[in-house]
Amino acid sequence: MIVVTGATGNIGRPLTQALAKAGHQVTAVSRHTAAVPNGVRHVVADLAKPASLKPALAGAKALFLLLSGDLHATGANPADIISEAAASGVRRVVLLSTLGVVTRPSGQTRIAMRALEDTLRESGLEWAILRPGGFASNALWWAESVRTQQVVAAPFGDVGVPIIDPADIAAVAAACLLEDRHTGGVYELTGPEVITPRQQAEAIAAALGSPVRFHELTRDEAKTAMSQSMPAELANDTLDILGSPSPAELRVSPDVQQVLGRAPHPFAEWATRNVAAFR
Ligand SMILES: NC(=O)c1ccc[n+]([C@@H]2O[C@H](COP(=O)([O-])OP(=O)(O)OC[C@H]3O[C@@H](n4cnc5c(N)ncnc54)[C@H](OP(=O)(O)O)[C@@H]3O)[C@@H](O)[C@H]2O)c1
Repeated sequence: MIVVTGATGNIGRPLTQALAKAGHQVTAVSRHTAAVPNGVRHVVADLAKPASLKPALAGAKALFLLLSGDLHATGANPADIISEAAASGVRRVVLLSTLGVVTRPSGQTRIAMRALEDTLRESGLEWAILRPGGFASNALWWAESVRTQQVVAAPFGDVGVPIIDPADIAAVAAACLLEDRHTGGVYELTGPEVITPRQQAEAIAAALGSPVRFHELTRDEAKTAMSQSMPAELANDTLDILGSPSPAELRVSPDVQQVLGRAPHPFAEWATRNVAAFR
């Protein structure tokens, strides 16, 4: 049995679907009950309380570990989740980290994530670590304004990064959970090309078959908007990346191709698959 945390999110949902479709027993974990694919068991647990994962982990051989929100702010220690998994007999853990641990190693959340990576490496378990860059699904921030005003409002309209489709992260995660050859793998995951917010707006318009206007926000306007849904430090860091990506953040990684034997999906494909959110 394979346990998927973050199971109702951008990565966890397609990962759960793919594993179930391939005939594996899957336990989907999130704090709120939610519809899951046929045959999948859903267990409510809170990663901030590692002991709450016990019922989900009982009998599991592998765990996909995705930490969402600021668990450290709650006083939780995510390393306890790895101990809990090992104590339950889990043999393999695939950890969703972030490219930021390499490209922007300072900053509280990335220091904590790097420490968690190290805990996993030293745990005695089989492991793989996924380090994705920015997600295509961040474009869902624009869904409401596209629906109501046909506008994408974003800063740094002509500065791009190679954003990745979460479905590709899910496919890599499935491979790492299922195939022995990925044990000890550390994969940097990006999309196939650098794409700017203005080009993303064009791709959404093409998927909709109707015009979408691009409105460039100032950094301060963007920070105010983002600070409503994330800590100020993270909003600042994200804006640093979006406005002045480093060479490492602009690099198109070969790792999706290497793991899956196919190229990652372009943003246009994500926009077509998710067009209902913008309609
Ligand atoms: N967005 C980016 O550009 C980017 C880039 C690099 C890395 N990342 C990393 O990607 C992760 C987010 O992935 P995502 O987009 O797939 O997530 P998401 O769509 O926001 O979904 C989060 C999932 O985690 C569950 N969850 C949240 N808090 C939980 C808790 N305390 N205990 C148990 N389950 C919890 C949610 O369900 P409930 O709310 O019901 O619990 C949901 O299933 C984060 O770790 C982030 O740092 C993001």
